Amino acid sequence: MEGNQMLLACIVCVIYAFLATSASAVGPEQVHISFGYQPSQMFVMWSTAQFGDSTVAYGTDQFHLSSKKSGTCWRFTYGNPNGLQYIHRVLLEDLKPGTGYWYYVQTSGNSSDLFHFTTMQSGAGWSPKVLVYGDMGKEGGSQSLPSLYKEAASGEYAAVVHVGDFAYDLDSDGGENGDEFMRRLEPIASTLPYMTAEGNHESGYNFSHYINRFSMPSNSSSPHWYSWDMGPAHFIRCNTLSPHTQESLLSLYLSSYSTEVYFYSYFSGWGISQQLKWLQEDLAKAQTNRAERPWIIAYGHRPMYCSNLNRDDCTTPKSVVRAGLEEMFYKAGVDIILEAHEHSYERLWPVFNETVTANNYIDPKAPVHLVSGTAGCREGVDPMLGPKGPWSAFRSWYPSRHGYGRLEVVNSTHVYWGQVVDGNMTLEDEIWIVQHSHGPFN
Ligand SMILES: *[C@@H]1O[C@H](CO)[C@@H](O)[C@H](O)[C@H]1NC(C)=O
Ligand SMILES: *[C@@H]1O[C@H](CO)[C@@H](O)[C@H](O)[C@H]1NC(C)=O
Ligand SMILES: *[C@@H]1O[C@H](CO)[C@@H](O)[C@H](O)[C@H]1NC(C)=O
Ligand SMILES: *[C@@H]1O[C@H](CO)[C@@H](O)[C@H](O)[C@H]1NC(C)=O
Ligand SMILES: *[C@@H]1O[C@H](CO)[C@@H](O)[C@H](O)[C@H]1NC(C)=O
Ligand SMILES: *[C@@H]1O[C@H](CO)[C@@H](O)[C@H](O)[C@H]1NC(C)=O
Repeated sequence: MEGNQMLLACIVCVIYAFLATSASAVGPEQVHISFGYQPSQMFVMWSTAQFGDSTVAYGTDQFHLSSKKSGTCWRFTYGNPNGLQYIHRVLLEDLKPGTGYWYYVQTSGNSSDLFHFTTMQSGAGWSPKVLVYGDMGKEGGSQSLPSLYKEAASGEYAAVVHVGDFAYDLDSDGGENGDEFMRRLEPIASTLPYMTAEGNHESGYNFSHYINRFSMPSNSSSPHWYSWDMGPAHFIRCNTLSPHTQESLLSLYLSSYSTEVYFYSYFSGWGISQQLKWLQEDLAKAQTNRAERPWIIAYGHRPMYCSNLNRDDCTTPKSVVRAGLEEMFYKAGVDIILEAHEHSYERLWPVFNETVTANNYIDPKAPVHLVSGTAGCREGVDPMLGPKGPWSAFRSWYPSRHGYGRLEVVNSTHVYWGQVVDGNMTLEDEIWIVQHSHGPFN
């Protein structure tokens, strides 16, 4: 009897081991999406261990995915010896606005689970809501992930903006850490377009993990910065809505910039100047579209101001990020700047050149900075015990608690911002930013 039991246990064991290894060695995984160049497009990405075709089956009927689109597969090895090396990307096109789609991805006949996303809406009265956070690690991130899973599943949000620092780091353990992080992200990033900015933790191997694992709608020559419109502006220009509808549409312009150009030799000689040139041109274009897209929101990893007790750039009077970008954002009338890097939360009064323009958010005369870097990582939190400038309106850190922000562009004059403390999903801070006259501040 005992012998038989052992034999049985052994067989079960072998079967389990086989299933476990085959489950991890085959099939598409780490499925995530991001907005394409137009509201009617969506990037779909995933990873596999072997080379194979890249196909997305999708449709509006869950039980009948009527369309198929193929894309490209490339091998990614630089700084990724142990990770899955085949990255797949498909750009879905001609999607209908404000429509729910079901999809799965397929490589060499192996399919992923079935996922769901909703495309950008068109029409009046749409108030896009996005989740905002930075600095989420593989381990520490598990503190805010349960709340974020709930938020993503609620169907209330249109996208996520992750303001730099992923996984800690994507390239750790030869890329295995990045794979595990992307697996944990899948319930969020397979359903909400995951829009990114790069941080210092992406700098390894010339930012190769950031560049290979994410695809943003970059129309510049560089994947390190890009901008997008939330709302149907592009769709309308090349399509069929009536002029009446066009007038009542609300949309918003977002710009992702790199703060890392100021810190890594990889960018030396080209990064700072190319980004500045691109930002200047792009913001000038956004200015001419201000009636159509009143809100300009920029996001980049390192803050220009902070009151933390460390030696980060934002704590110094001569912050290089501030020196490099603040005046341009001010002149372009950028309404809101989303930042992270500090593992704490800080909200600023409208400020330019260290001068606070008002202690409220009614028709600000300078950008409003929001620093939300508390999604959680293995480095813990950054206590905010440094001297507090007059620009610091609210600041918090909790020894073992994490959080993220909710941003809602309600209409052309009102934006809502709330910072959530995770676990219990309680708001620790909320404000309305009201702007009746969008445009350059100078
Ligand atoms: C697809 O799955 C089979 C086993 O079901 C496996 O042998 C093959 O390597 C997988 N292909 C890819 C590209 O992962
Ligand atoms: C950006 O580039 C893509 C791909 O080349 C193109 O389809 C799209 O029209 C471009 N968008 C703009 C606004 O130039
Ligand atoms: C990484 O960037 C440096 C500086 O730009 C460059 O010299 C080097 O060739 C790059 N390495 C790879 C593998 O791309
Ligand atoms: C910022 O303020 C200082 C004086 O406090 C002034 O010298 C400098 O010109 C100002 N910079 C800008 C861009 O306005
Ligand atoms: C914009 O939204 C705010 C907040 O809900 C509301 O008070 C205001 O009346 C709205 N403005 C317009 C023009 O709809
Ligand atoms: C939620 O967590 C925060 C931070 O620890 C705490 O201050 C607050 O009291 C909690 N709220 C509830 C309802 O538990």
